Amino acid sequence: MSRENPWANPDRLSAEDARTLARLIDERAARPDQRQAHAALLAALAPQAGERLLDLGCGSGVLTRKLAAQVGPGGEVVGVDISRAMLDYARQQTPVGHLVLRYEQADGASLPFPDGYFHGALMARTLMHVPEPQAVLAELRRVMMPGGRLAILEADWGTVAVDHSQRELTRRILAWRTDTVDGNNWMGRQLVRRCLQAGWQVRAVQGLVSIGRDEGTTHLGSLRRCATLALEHGVITPAEHDAWIAELDERLAAGIFFASINEYIVAATA
Ligand SMILES: C[S@@+](CC[C@H](N)C(=O)[O-])C[C@H]1O[C@@H](n2cnc3c(N)ncnc32)[C@H](O)[C@@H]1O
Repeated sequence: MSRENPWANPDRLSAEDARTLARLIDERAARPDQRQAHAALLAALAPQAGERLLDLGCGSGVLTRKLAAQVGPGGEVVGVDISRAMLDYARQQTPVGHLVLRYEQADGASLPFPDGYFHGALMARTLMHVPEPQAVLAELRRVMMPGGRLAILEADWGTVAVDHSQRELTRRILAWRTDTVDGNNWMGRQLVRRCLQAGWQVRAVQGLVSIGRDEGTTHLGSLRRCATLALEHGVITPAEHDAWIAELDERLAAGIFFASINEYIVAATA
């Protein structure tokens, strides 16, 4: 069983739903676990004043704007996304007259830039959604100058841990989600191999364990969505859904909720 991945191209959704996804990126980015991951990703790229940098799969532009602040007035930052709706949203968040930053619509497998154009690139939570990741990694290398840097962030849904009394049900929901929903959920563990196979020199690999213990983390929304989708696709019954969610809610209320997911950052050189 498979379902369409909304992140593969949000333009296939209604304008309203695409805008909701864009807002979701910004809402998530404001949460502590996401802020920490984004900060680590930026540190892995280490942007320098005056550089030309690319943010591939820029979405709402949340990281693109941070890059622009770091390269300063002499630099150039381009946010690229396959989705016009995402880019429209990103442009609305960008201050008027911000000359360093621009957005372009393109597929990551076919970038509208000459060979060797950029000093560096970021790609956050995008590679898992593209149908041909190797083509994207090769294209990123083409537009990088010799020695150009790449920093990639991806989660690995196969590493999700949830403290729940119903082990079999928990495993069923999470395994189905990992194998079925929203792209290649094992991208995190595949990043190093894929970068090497695309000819990148891997400089550093970092693992982040994102821990959720309350409503203010991204985990809870994701788990609720997993359960809803599993129900809609007949993987669990309505009774199982309600019992699973009720226990998560009870654990939250009692302050004993715990969930985690591993995310990986790979820093590489062309
Ligand atoms: C989950 S969002 C990540 C947004 C942002 N990088 C972040 O970390 O918050 C994935 C983004 O990748 C874009 N995308 C998916 N496939 C793409 C492709 N083949 N080329 C360029 N962008 C793509 C989607 O439109 C979406 O905006």
